Amino acid sequence: MTMNTAINENIDPKAGKRANFYDVEAIRADFPAMKVEVNGHPLTFLDSGASAQKPVQVLERMDQAYREEYANVHRGAYRLSELATENYENARSSVARFMNAASADEIIFTRNATAAFNLVSSSWGRKNLRAGDEIVVSHMEHHANIVPWQLLRDETGIVIKVAPIDDDGNFLMDEFAALLGAKTKLVSITQTSNVLGTMTPIKEIARLAHEAGALVMFDGAQGIVHAGIDVQDVDADFYVFTGHKLYGPTGIGVLYGKLDILKNMPPYQGGGDMIEMVTFEKTTYREPPARFEAGTPPIIEAIGLAAAIDYVNSIGQEAIAGHEVELLNHATKALGQIDGLTIIGQARQKCAIVSFTIEGVHPHDIGTIIDARGVAIRAGHHCAQPLMDRFGLAATARASFGMYNKKEDVDVLVDALLYAKEIFA
Ligand code: ALA
Repeated sequence: MTMNTAINENIDPKAGKRANFYDVEAIRADFPAMKVEVNGHPLTFLDSGASAQKPVQVLERMDQAYREEYANVHRGAYRLSELATENYENARSSVARFMNAASADEIIFTRNATAAFNLVSSSWGRKNLRAGDEIVVSHMEHHANIVPWQLLRDETGIVIKVAPIDDDGNFLMDEFAALLGAKTKLVSITQTSNVLGTMTPIKEIARLAHEAGALVMFDGAQGIVHAGIDVQDVDADFYVFTGHKLYGPTGIGVLYGKLDILKNMPPYQGGGDMIEMVTFEKTTYREPPARFEAGTPPIIEAIGLAAAIDYVNSIGQEAIAGHEVELLNHATKALGQIDGLTIIGQARQKCAIVSFTIEGVHPHDIGTIIDARGVAIRAGHHCAQPLMDRFGLAATARASFGMYNKKEDVDVLVDALLYAKEIFA
């Protein structure tokens, strides 16, 4: 495996100021996509919120596992299958350590974050919720943390309540607390808005949810990338995230659940590997996590996710977060100077995701025009239509940053936006 050289290894990534030592060029050298040209321009990739690029360490690890360590898991009595099983289960342990889960058995591999939400809704929700029971979400949820609960509502008659945000995108704690009561059974809130960048006070949310007797679940799809997570410190009951935003492959997501809760949940999908014994009369099921992983799992994707976690750890999550804050500050200032540009979401706690509109230019046109300069951003509703409605918008343009972005990327974005404005002037 190529060794990462981006951070001076003598520097403790958790200590002191790291910005001086954050070698973004060395990080960029690990990401083949940073050398790609688009429309005759070097790629300026500002869409990591949708999906992050992959370092060569992840690509090489997956390639090696496919070439030399590949077999199905949990099935073969031969060495290669044992090796694949070890790799797969070691990946589970890596994820558990990364989130500070109490046990690897609390980590269920899914297809993505959406599948993890659907698992909880279908399994825990169907078993535990009845008509009139309440689930509290926030106004800035991704559709993945709305639609599974609506499907459950249509089946069971549960009630979905929405915690509001203010015009800057701050999560309103008092208003949230006022929604909690004896009927609240689950609070399911994002750690970080994929549109506004708002970071929610997850520890306090968990405390209040538990005081009300509810379970608490967090959508960590963006949050784990920008802020990390300690599920025990936060006291999360469920936490979901996806591999591909964390510099890992697509096709792998994670549901964390406290073991005593998982043990009391029925299977969600049936098939191979999740059973103890099957007869035509009766089937018994394995303990979690196997109970929730029917069929051949995403073996190589799990190994790739573990490699991505190793890579992130080799740089240091706090070092990355520190770098991203600098990018966010630079972007907020630079974009704020463009006439007619409005940043949507200026929460007190936010990470390096910047949504904006430009007067007179449709977000999709912004995206298309700046693509001609090699700048990749996302434009649209970002799978958060209720949030768009909250701001009276159909769409925004969004620049989202990753560990490999540099200040110059912001400057290229600003130039490209000025060019887009000129075209529509
Ligand atoms: N949820 C992803 C995004 O925010 C796809 O772009």
